[in-house]
Amino acid sequence: MSEPRRRESYRLQPGGAVGGRVRVPGDKSISHRALMLSGVAEGVSEITGFLASADCLATLAALRELGVRIERPERERVIVRGAGAAGLRAAAGPLDMGNAGTAMRLMMGLLVGRPFDSTLVGDASLMRRPMERVAVPLRMMGARVLTEDGRPPVRILGDGALKAIEYELPVASAQVKSAILLAALRSNGRTRVTEPAPTRDHTERMLATFGVELVRSGATIALEGGQALQAAHVEVPGDFSSAAFFLVAGCLAASHPLTLENVGVNPTRTGLIELLREMGGDIRIRSKPARSVAAEPIADIEVRASRLHGIKVPEAMVPLTIDEFPVFFVAAACAEGDTLVRGALELRVKESDRLAVMAEGLGKLGVEHDLLPDGLWIRGRGGLTGGTLESHGDHRIAMAFAVASLRASAPLEVLDVANVATSFPDFVATARAAGFSIGET
Ligand code: S3P
Repeated sequence: MSEPRRRESYRLQPGGAVGGRVRVPGDKSISHRALMLSGVAEGVSEITGFLASADCLATLAALRELGVRIERPERERVIVRGAGAAGLRAAAGPLDMGNAGTAMRLMMGLLVGRPFDSTLVGDASLMRRPMERVAVPLRMMGARVLTEDGRPPVRILGDGALKAIEYELPVASAQVKSAILLAALRSNGRTRVTEPAPTRDHTERMLATFGVELVRSGATIALEGGQALQAAHVEVPGDFSSAAFFLVAGCLAASHPLTLENVGVNPTRTGLIELLREMGGDIRIRSKPARSVAAEPIADIEVRASRLHGIKVPEAMVPLTIDEFPVFFVAAACAEGDTLVRGALELRVKESDRLAVMAEGLGKLGVEHDLLPDGLWIRGRGGLTGGTLESHGDHRIAMAFAVASLRASAPLEVLDVANVATSFPDFVATARAAGFSIGET
């Protein structure tokens, strides 16, 4: 298992202004998928714009353990010599997925039905996260998957053929959907997965890039087993979830326009833009029509200072905004009036319990709120106080609280920020370049 984290912290001066041009690092979801699909494809794939973060490097290391030959000639360029559909071999020991829930859950789909056993572990946060949501459908396919009280370590026992299933996801989860699709590739027959609400579709888009035929009709995706993947070039766009911190920062404190360059604007990811616009946010998508690289739309996004007002978030927007709620709650706290989010129970099982942790931090910042079982009710009054905030080792909470400093009336300290490196290794330098007054201890 991973080493315990060091207790690094951010110190932020209150107020300040942002603006200029910012480039965010590559998309985390797409980088994980690019590695995994290249790893089991036929031929040599190239990934550019790769996110060199702790989470994606955990996936890279795990694939190497499984016998895939991978070179990284530059920080953001990866060459993968695919092992082919049946080419993976047993790892020497447990595969450590660090903090990465996506890596563990997708890897479960990749590793079932192989002729060898595998064990997946992670850091303290990942070891607490639910894995039965993936294990249940994989067992229906004939896989033998063991969890401990529903959590990691996950043991996958060597097995023969998998069979196709028809499965309705009980929760809207791209990770579960993706794990089933990866297992379906090596099963007999046609698998159908139905989602209760649209979730990010990077796996479907990328499978098509690697030559796999899959058919979407309404909420159902159908995939025929036995298809081989052909090597591809994946150009990873900037991560919308990393751009999100600067979108909110721009609304709260832009002295001149803040432009986020080359960001992935896949509509299954950009719920935050719609929510901020409904609150009065001035956000413009600059490179229309969006460029499309490896079947993912890309654009520059420009944001200006905006007077935000509270809104009631429609439940259908929750999966499309799922990773952006920590920073959305900061926007709501700095808006005028009430904002209500319901139907967001999933936030309780992310890298931390994001409802409870954000409620605790907003309380320290003097924001009136109610913590609900499945959401938050925030009574925004335009500004925040300062103080010391605990991120509970959750990267997105740490960055969201850093954004809060732009509207704070006193200095902020954000504790336990080392895990920002799981998704945004250069956050401090990027935030400084945009105008944040941020230091690291
Ligand atoms: C992800 C899916 C989402 C998201 C996570 C990344 C993915 O999780 O929160 O950060 O890459 O598929 P769920 O599928 O559990 O909602």
